Amino acid sequence: MMKKENVVIKSVEQIALDTVEMVVKNPYISQKAIPGQFLHVSVEGHTLRRPISIADINRENKTITILFKMVGSGTAKLAALNPGMSFDVLGPSGNGFQTEGNESSTILLIGGGIGVPPLYYLGKELAKQNKEIISVLGYQTRANVFSEEMFRRLGKTFIVTNDGSYGEKGFVTDVIQKAGYFDYYYSCGPLPMLKAVTAKLADKPGMISLEERMGCGVGACMACVIPTDSEGGYKKICSDGPVFHTQEVSL
Ligand code: FES
Repeated sequence: MMKKENVVIKSVEQIALDTVEMVVKNPYISQKAIPGQFLHVSVEGHTLRRPISIADINRENKTITILFKMVGSGTAKLAALNPGMSFDVLGPSGNGFQTEGNESSTILLIGGGIGVPPLYYLGKELAKQNKEIISVLGYQTRANVFSEEMFRRLGKTFIVTNDGSYGEKGFVTDVIQKAGYFDYYYSCGPLPMLKAVTAKLADKPGMISLEERMGCGVGACMACVIPTDSEGGYKKICSDGPVFHTQEVSL
């Protein structure tokens, strides 16, 4: 269950262009969070909280790793905080990736940009279930690449950059066919990427996680709605998602 919690910063490090890794400590969230959930972070002086996905959990140390891009004054302010300082979050928020009961043997993880981090915690959990993991990770340029080694430890990993400055050139959808056999996929990234991925893999079962600028983050303001296919209605990304089965929503 999501709660308002105080987290204490253990470390802050810039790991790629405009990309910051922050490790925070909180006993409650570190025991409860599942892959795909996020922290709704309060930044001093800003009314709107920032949704930041959980990139990793260390239950023993009671720590949560988050990765975020500095895209404005709020995230820049967050990145400027130091170890020992604290801030409040709502978490663990949203519905994460379902892995229980997934009988698939080989899983493809497809991440784009700041959509890559939640797939690491997911991949780690899937590896514990003895799944074979293949990852296709897309970034704009070489300077944006992060977490490559961590994914390589999980399994075969393809890096794609839009300008070809590192790894394969192009988009994640250009490289999926090189991944070989897989029977289920999980994807997280910007909407155009998810549209292209779900169209390309229309015959495969999978789950996607939507990145969205949110308002309240708790299902009250309707700022994050997305149309559904079947029900003629809408789902709220913050509280029904951010993770959905590919058939659940219309991108
Ligand atoms: Fe308010 Fe989702 S952000 S309902």
